[in-house]
Amino acid sequence: DIKTIAMIGCGSMGGGMAQLFAENGYHVALEDPSQDQVQAVLVAAKASNIPSDRFSKHTDYKSLCEALDSPKVFFWSLPHGGVGDKVLEGLLPYLEKGDIIVDCGNEHWENTERRQGKCVTKGIRYVGCGVSGGYQAARRGPSMCPGADDETLALVLPLLRTVAAKDNNSNPATGAVGTGGAGHYCKMIHNGIEHGMMSAISEAYTIMRKGLGMNLDEIGDVFEQWNSKGELQGTFLIWISRDICRTKNMEGKRVLDEVEDKVVQDYTGEEGTGVWSNLEAVERHVPAPTLTVAHYLRIASGDRHQRAQIQKTFGTGTGDPNKDHTAAFPPEELDVDDRGKFLEDLRMAVYTACLAAYCQGMLIIEKADKEHHFNINYVELMQVWRAGCIIQADYISETLLKPIYDNRDLKSESSNPLLHQHVASDLKRGFPSLRKVVASGVEADHVIPALSATLEWIKYMSSTTLPANFYEAQLDYFGNHMYDRKGDDGKGLPTQGKHHVEWKAA
Ligand code: 6PG
Repeated sequence: DIKTIAMIGCGSMGGGMAQLFAENGYHVALEDPSQDQVQAVLVAAKASNIPSDRFSKHTDYKSLCEALDSPKVFFWSLPHGGVGDKVLEGLLPYLEKGDIIVDCGNEHWENTERRQGKCVTKGIRYVGCGVSGGYQAARRGPSMCPGADDETLALVLPLLRTVAAKDNNSNPATGAVGTGGAGHYCKMIHNGIEHGMMSAISEAYTIMRKGLGMNLDEIGDVFEQWNSKGELQGTFLIWISRDICRTKNMEGKRVLDEVEDKVVQDYTGEEGTGVWSNLEAVERHVPAPTLTVAHYLRIASGDRHQRAQIQKTFGTGTGDPNKDHTAAFPPEELDVDDRGKFLEDLRMAVYTACLAAYCQGMLIIEKADKEHHFNINYVELMQVWRAGCIIQADYISETLLKPIYDNRDLKSESSNPLLHQHVASDLKRGFPSLRKVVASGVEADHVIPALSATLEWIKYMSSTTLPANFYEAQLDYFGNHMYDRKGDDGKGLPTQGKHHVEWKAA
């Protein structure tokens, strides 16, 4: 029965979780290189009336380990990469067989598995646990996505269940997701899905603002309606979008209007989940354009200076990123007869893009699971995403996806969501609205990468008459790539074609 835990890394996430554990009766031994961070946790805990004797402060691993019972349980909230390796090196001399490390950072799953391999030789248990929901959820109850061997998961899940967010039925948003680095793998893809959904919603915002001339109060009301009923009900990102529209600063002005159009993705060190999830999609040959184009928008936006320079070259700006707030192709008002009807199309378009992002993410996870043997329990994974996390979307995860995994005979039936009638019919149902929104948006020069890429994805994933015949002919022309003749495709396996001709005009 675990009563004492250590929290290594007491920033906003670790600090929030430390208070959450203490609030739930655990003694929490705090360790962080910054004493200010540790102090901030104690101050915040006091303000929440958490008894101060539930905490102890430590500046070295020896005293930290002495404060723990056996087995020693460590929660980590650290930046990904080398930091975790250093912390593990530092801890190892004090660790014993049976001790448990729960790594709650956004760590790369291969780092997790490497450390699991190192720890297992010493009988130490290492859990890679994706934690979602941001700093507020870390304090109130996050979504927790753990991966490790079954025995280790059985030991830590009671702790995770205590602190994890609870869904509408009071079930915790955690579960035995899979073995090895499965927890961090799924969290990485969660973040890819997150970015696809965020882009689609941001695109809808700008269509409403610049395309329909709506003010922020009106847009906030639309997001509130979308979140309150129908397919987007219980979608965390739609809910916070309402608040983003309504939040004002001290002078009564909208905070959103002071935010620059720039989302930086650090690439100088180790990139993080946004980059990794897209690399995974490409490397595992899974078309995931909703995720990928959202990421391209992010990285293009990050270099605002370059965009200003390009705009100048296009002859529409001064080249000064601080002065220019325009575009070479400025988005215009949309030609819309019936605003109410168009807003309904926009809602369906956003829903369809969010569903597509989910499907694409699940396709990546499933492929990785097959190739890497994560033994993912998809029902548990859906439960992890039912509360507390950024991609929480009740209708998608509970009504559409969970039944696929609930009823699936693992050996005979594919869990590819697109092969399930009820998911396919929702994508089909959303398609006309998405097409209308994309067509109107394109016509008026709006920036709509996630919406338009989703439209294309639905088209090409559901077609057996792609322009790829011409693509293949070009490859055969210059590369002797070989092509399949119509009807040659056998069992549908992605094998190299069988025919080649010398493509010379007679
Ligand atoms: C979450 C978020 C969270 C966030 C990361 C990544 O689930 O709570 O995904 O993990 O997105 O901080 O941020 P970057 O994308 O900037 O690396």
